[in-house]
Amino acid sequence: MTLVHRVLYPQPIISLEDFVKRRGGQGLQAALGMEPAAIIEVLAASGLRGRGGAGFPTGRKWQTVAANRLPDAPSTVIVNAAEGEPGTFKDRTILRRNPYVVVEGALIAARAVDADLIVFAMKQSFAGEVDRVRAAIEEVEDEGWSDGIELEVFEGPDEYLYGEESALLETIDGRWPFPRIVPTFRRGIETAATADAPSPPALVNNTETLANVARIIARGATWFRSLGTTESPGTMVCTVTGHTQRHGVGEVQMGTPLREVIEDIGGGSKPGRTIKAVLSGVANSVIPGSMLDTPVSYEGLSAIGSGLGSGAFIVFDDTVDMATVAAGVARFLAVESCGQCSPCKLDGMALSDALTNLIASEGGDHGYNVVRRRLSTIADRSRCFLATQQQLVVGSIVEQFGDELAAHASRAAGPVEPVLIAELLDIRGGEAYLDLRHRQKQWDWSYNKRDSGTVPVELYTALVPPWRR
Ligand SMILES: Cc1cc2nc3c(=O)[nH]c(=O)nc-3n(C[C@H](O)[C@H](O)[C@H](O)COP(=O)(O)O)c2cc1C
Ligand code: SF4
Repeated sequence: MTLVHRVLYPQPIISLEDFVKRRGGQGLQAALGMEPAAIIEVLAASGLRGRGGAGFPTGRKWQTVAANRLPDAPSTVIVNAAEGEPGTFKDRTILRRNPYVVVEGALIAARAVDADLIVFAMKQSFAGEVDRVRAAIEEVEDEGWSDGIELEVFEGPDEYLYGEESALLETIDGRWPFPRIVPTFRRGIETAATADAPSPPALVNNTETLANVARIIARGATWFRSLGTTESPGTMVCTVTGHTQRHGVGEVQMGTPLREVIEDIGGGSKPGRTIKAVLSGVANSVIPGSMLDTPVSYEGLSAIGSGLGSGAFIVFDDTVDMATVAAGVARFLAVESCGQCSPCKLDGMALSDALTNLIASEGGDHGYNVVRRRLSTIADRSRCFLATQQQLVVGSIVEQFGDELAAHASRAAGPVEPVLIAELLDIRGGEAYLDLRHRQKQWDWSYNKRDSGTVPVELYTALVPPWRR
């Protein structure tokens, strides 16, 4: 069994008292006796990288935010708990088991970057996790852990883009989740202190990233590096769904072969079946079944042209027609695109339509050519990574499983529908529950019978979002 328990506690921690009994609070205690620069130094030495998808070195991010702080307005720490990547359920699992360890990490981050406000950016639909975080914040405040730092929960919308860090700040500021051009370390959120002045930077970190921080500060960089690989120290909390015996979330050492991760968390493939391919969320090239010995680490997965992302492994066995997976991914990403960059939304919609028609065996060679053409332009002038995701995931399926698409083009394969690719609502009793409503979601983000024909950025910008503070 390869599962470990550094970040993901085996049993839920039910109170702050319970957390303290298990050595909780020692990281914050240590941080209070350190200069902010020294905290950042330890974090940088640990080699921790962001667990939200991009794998950016956390110490370097904290350094940049600290270096960009404004003299007269404190910065903000944002805990990214929006968790919308299809196939991912690790952040909610961490928060269900132990919200205190994330609060502790965020308090250390606030000290390191000189922030006086921590915002837990969650989704309104994550009702159970929202309650758990609110209760943890109350206990931490009652025990005096927050010491002048305000902690709040923001309940945002279900849109996938809400989790993109600059869109997250837009949303907290009372606007729609449309990514910005300005980076988050240059412009954070608007606070009462900054109503008429430039806003100070925001440090945006993923929930799992922050869940690692307290122990690194309490036990040191060498301890953190005692698990994992040189380039990917520590552990990864992975989610396994799709065609496996069960679905689940588990923590593994970085460098564990993907096959073991799928076996230990998901029980391996179903009886008599073999694994044909694995998606690493919808942000990286598809991993073929022949590459299951690849180590789950940043360098391991990038060496085969894929990526670790947020550790979301969606497994497809030999019963699956990979053209239906390409069509499902293309539809999810095209729907979720905001339309600020025309190629992303328009090529995305055309790509999704072409793939849906192709697998309905209506496309012929023309449909296949449209797919290739749209993939070549979709990421032009894109403001965020979503358009590139289309290129990477759909492009890699076209490249590796082109014969399965060609079978539809020549009408050798019968008509089929796109696989549902959507956010996870829950994993209960070993079974993942996907957001089935996504099948009805229109290009304009509505669930109306008909799409308005207007892209989200044009439709919503003038409207006041329900979450405006
Ligand atoms: C379309 C899109 C959706 C994203 N959704 C999430 C998300 O739900 N949760 C998350 O932590 N990061 C998400 N990210 C990544 C964030 O933009 C950002 O990189 C991350 O919060 C940084 O934290 P980290 O350095 O700790 O990983 C998303 C990125 C993109 C492009
Ligand atoms: S790349 Fe796509 S999702 Fe990202 S800002 Fe542009 S249109 Fe919106």
